[in-house]
Amino acid sequence: MQKRPWLVESDKPTYQVLKWIGGGGFGQVFKVLRNGQTVACKQVQLDNAEAALDEYDHMRLLRGAPHIATLHDGLEFSRKTNTLSFFMDYYRGKDLDRQVQMLKGAGGHFTESQIIEIGYQIAVALEFCHGMNVLHQDMKPMNGTGEATRRPLSF
Ligand SMILES: Nc1ncnc2c1ncn2[C@@H]1O[C@H](COP(=O)(O)OP(=O)(O)OP(=O)(O)O)[C@@H](O)[C@H]1O
Ligand SMILES: [Mg+2]
Repeated sequence: MQKRPWLVESDKPTYQVLKWIGGGGFGQVFKVLRNGQTVACKQVQLDNAEAALDEYDHMRLLRGAPHIATLHDGLEFSRKTNTLSFFMDYYRGKDLDRQVQMLKGAGGHFTESQIIEIGYQIAVALEFCHGMNVLHQDMKPMNGTGEATRRPLSF
C-alpha cells in the first residue's frame, strides 16, 4: 500500500464546521475554518476509504490545474466518527445544479455565451485530467462549484 505521510489520525479535528454545503454519492462537503482560513472539507465514511484516497491522490496530482478545485495538504482520520476528511479551496456561490434549478424556477436559462463559457471551462479541466491519466468518472452539474465567472470542477 502507498505510504501516506500526510494522513493524520486525530479525534480532535483541526477544523471547525461553519456550514454544511451538500452531499453526494459517498461524501459530505462542509464549509470549515482551518488554520484561520475558510476552506471546503470533504468528509467520507471509512467504508468508502479507497475511493476517498483515490480522490485525494487525483486531486493532489491535479493541483494547480485550470478550472479544477485546488486541494490542500492533509488528510485526517477520526476514529471517533470513522471518517476521513480532506480540504480544498472554498468556492462561494451555488453549484451548477442549483443554479440551473433556480433559473428554471424563475422561467429563465443560461445565455448562449454563459453556456459556451461553462462548456469551455469543463473541457479545459477534463483535458488536463486526461493529460494526467485521470478519469473524472462523476461528471454532474453538482460537481460544478462556485460563481459565474469561475466554476472549478470538484469530484
Ligand atoms: N471546494 C468546494 N467549494 C465549495 N463547494 C464545494 C466544493 N466542493 C464541493 N462543493 C459542493 O458541495 C456540494 C456537495 O458536493 P457533491 O454533491 O459533489 O458531494 P460529494 O461529497 O462530492 O459526493 P460525490 O462524490 O458523489 O460527488 C455540491 O454543491 C458541490 O458543488
Ligand atoms: Mg462531488
